[in-house]
Amino acid sequence: MLLTEDAPNIARSIDPAFRHDIVTGLSRSPKATPPTWFYDRRGSELFEAITDLPEYYPTRTETALLARHGVNFAAAVGKGRAVVEFGAGSARKTPHLLRAIAPAAYVPIDISGDFLHASSAALAAAFPGLPVLPVVGDFNRPLALPGAIEDLPRLGFFPGSTIGNMEPDAAVDLLRAMRRLLGDGAKLLIGMDRIKDRDRLVAAYDDAQGVTAAFNLNLVERINRELEGDLPIESFVHRAIWNDDKARIEMHLEALRSLHFHVAGQCFHMDAGETIHTESSHKYGARDERLLLRAGGWEPAAEWIDDEGLFALVLADAG
Ligand code: AVI
Repeated sequence: MLLTEDAPNIARSIDPAFRHDIVTGLSRSPKATPPTWFYDRRGSELFEAITDLPEYYPTRTETALLARHGVNFAAAVGKGRAVVEFGAGSARKTPHLLRAIAPAAYVPIDISGDFLHASSAALAAAFPGLPVLPVVGDFNRPLALPGAIEDLPRLGFFPGSTIGNMEPDAAVDLLRAMRRLLGDGAKLLIGMDRIKDRDRLVAAYDDAQGVTAAFNLNLVERINRELEGDLPIESFVHRAIWNDDKARIEMHLEALRSLHFHVAGQCFHMDAGETIHTESSHKYGARDERLLLRAGGWEPAAEWIDDEGLFALVLADAG
């Protein structure tokens, strides 16, 4: 049962938020742009392809945890909750959770309406009788949940270690916003990627087939197409770097030569070797994980980890 409103017409003019973030990010020193803008249609497809790569362990590992621990989730979470998934994407992992805990409703939230409606329709077909109530929106900004789940206890579901793409202060703000949105008595099931061997981490973000490089470079194409840009794409290369001090993988676009280019009518310069920092993917130790959740208003209650200790699924109670 898919309950959805018509998606608003998407204007093909310049998106002011995209222009603002990119122009501001390119004006900064060092240059840095928010990772949200990776996910146009092509970027979302490339991300899906990344999740199948042999080097990219997070999706596979988390999905296996979800498939394996259904009985434990059911015992810890109970039945009849409204599951609110933040950044639902293709929702490939979600069926495992829904099968295990028999929720009363499912509310996927995603910024990409096309993707969200396609994945919601597939889920509604797989779970006949489950109200599926997609919300198109940016969960980093204030949102309203559908009135139909007003009286239901909630389980927030935030898989994929997407939290890791935020700076720690922004991650805490988001966890607090989730706490407010989901209300008293809520629970949160969140995927968090663990700190591990440096080479394994770098390979996961710089795969042999070059899919992650294409994902990173797609941002250049998007800027050129949507923001009247003239960045010479062949003069940029993808770099993935482990920043040990900040416990994060950083993705950068490095200029191979000295460059001048324009975006939205503004002129920018890069020296040879200078980079645009396009994404950080923070990794956590067991204690970091708990500290972050507590700072965000959630009390960790249970945790499931794979045998290699690559990835953790943490269940927390609204504090
Ligand atoms: C979405 N996010 C959790 C991914 C990550 O692993 O940080 C995005 C990604 N970037 C490159 N590969 C995957």
